[in-house]
Amino acid sequence: MRAVTVTGFGAVPEVTDRPVPEPGPGEVLVRLTAAGLNPFDWKVIDGAIEDVGFPLIIGTDGAGTVERVGADVTGFQSGDPVFGQFSKARLGRGSYAELAVASHGAIAAAPRTVALSEAAAVPTAGMTALNLVDHVGDAGRLLIVGATGGVGTFVTQIASARGITVVATASEEKADLMRALGATEVVDHTVAPIADQVDPQVDAVIDLVSGTERLRSLLPVIRPGGIVLSPVFAVPEEGLPGVEAANFSNVASADLLERLAGQIDAGHVRVVIGDTVTLSQAPEALARSRAGKARGKTVIVI
Ligand SMILES: NC(=O)c1ccc[n+]([C@@H]2O[C@H](COP(=O)([O-])OP(=O)(O)OC[C@H]3O[C@@H](n4cnc5c(N)ncnc54)[C@H](OP(=O)(O)O)[C@@H]3O)[C@@H](O)[C@H]2O)c1
Repeated sequence: MRAVTVTGFGAVPEVTDRPVPEPGPGEVLVRLTAAGLNPFDWKVIDGAIEDVGFPLIIGTDGAGTVERVGADVTGFQSGDPVFGQFSKARLGRGSYAELAVASHGAIAAAPRTVALSEAAAVPTAGMTALNLVDHVGDAGRLLIVGATGGVGTFVTQIASARGITVVATASEEKADLMRALGATEVVDHTVAPIADQVDPQVDAVIDLVSGTERLRSLLPVIRPGGIVLSPVFAVPEEGLPGVEAANFSNVASADLLERLAGQIDAGHVRVVIGDTVTLSQAPEALARSRAGKARGKTVIVI
């Protein structure tokens, strides 16, 4: 089968021929319609995790139809449309491939109202967004830094649907998109420091891009005791003064995938696809993501 692989850390991704993986007990083999690109995909190539088997098939997210199930799997059968996470880097397995194996608890029935190519864009960013908004609780006003990307477009919609006032960062050409997704205020991070453009005070900040110093620069606009969440691990060990700041690691589950599918089918969340590429264009798409440019999600149609 065709797959996008790397032969070692830092290697250039290329389309190669790999054997079809065999689903073991508790696993499901899926014929993928599309894979979803996440920044974590190139971070793995760059050495973010140590336990990697090479050649490594890149990618975590995907959607497609069940080909066959391994022993002890109930609830899925051949032909079922599913979406979820397919990465097992230790075994060199990933989702940028014609077929991929997932643990049965890492996938769920795909949303019925969108194409599988759109569903492929949802798992990691959507689950992270749901978990982040759950952590923020009933914040009145939420600042999202890096709002225009995969996680941010989901956070914006989920938070605003819960009645939270969303302040989103976006350059001018993406401002209308963010307002359409539910942002009440949009600040352009490319023209001036964010803290200079946001009226104090926000109750919470979800910052998807900043390093520690820019995170500190936001403190004047956050109310005392407000929440700061950093999925990019920019909160220093000693925390940040006057606020409840924490680094954030996503915990995935089939339950979260089902909640997301429900919200998509109910029309509460839409999948913002910024770019659709083929398997052979995936290496350039990874390079664009590494350069920090995204508008919603990139999907790789297989
Ligand atoms: N810890 C976890 O469990 C976890 C889970 C999921 C994701 N993450 C991490 O969270 C980050 C975001 O993920 P993602 O999928 O949303 O990435 P993404 O789709 O690449 O989006 C990043 C967004 O940030 C914007 N941006 C870049 N530089 C910026 C800046 N200086 N100020 C404000 N915005 C800026 C970009 O828009 P512009 O081009 O318009 O600037 C882009 O839309 C990644 O580093 C990812 O690895 C962590």
